[in-house]
Amino acid sequence: MIKVKKILTEETYTIRFEVLRKDIPLPYKFNGDFEKETFHLGAFKNNQLIAVSSFMKVSNNNFYGDQFQLRGMATLESFQGLGAGKLMVDKAIEILKTQKIDYLWCNARVIAVDFYKKQGFKIAGELFDIKYVGSHYLMFNELK
Ligand SMILES: CC(C)(COP(=O)(O)OP(=O)(O)OC[C@H]1O[C@@H](n2cnc3c(N)ncnc32)[C@H](O)[C@@H]1OP(=O)(O)O)[C@@H](O)C(=O)NCCC(=O)NCCS
Repeated sequence: MIKVKKILTEETYTIRFEVLRKDIPLPYKFNGDFEKETFHLGAFKNNQLIAVSSFMKVSNNNFYGDQFQLRGMATLESFQGLGAGKLMVDKAIEILKTQKIDYLWCNARVIAVDFYKKQGFKIAGELFDIKYVGSHYLMFNELK
């Protein structure tokens, strides 16, 4: 069984690096990691941290209202497909709804677009490139 709970910023680093940054010259520490509204979620299987994600109060001009950005969504390769990502998004939405947040958005790698669609996200706009990482879509989940 997988359990999701809030974790410290520093607990996200190993999985972020391993899954998202290993061959990419971009930092695994993010601006906003320590902002007071930011929270980080971890998914645990048998007490082992297997997935991480971070949620930051960042506004995107494409949306109105109160917004959070989802960043650093990563599940260790050998634990992908077990539901950890979905459970973290579910938990984040539960938390954000209690804060009356209007939108959760993210810059989604093309390979992850269908994962986000399954969690209720929609694509906004055209494909764009993030240097070193590749093609992305802006995706959003309206929480009202
Ligand atoms: C994308 C990622 C975070 C998904 O996490 P996960 O823990 O494997 O996802 P889950 O097991 O909760 O999957 C939930 C559902 O999405 C599906 N899914 C997961 N990853 C998918 C993908 N890349 N493409 C299509 N569907 C996907 C699962 O099959 C599952 O479907 P179901 O509900 O019908 O059974 C994970 O695969 C990952 O870390 N990938 C590499 C890093 C990455 O691309 N991160 C996103 C950066 S924007």
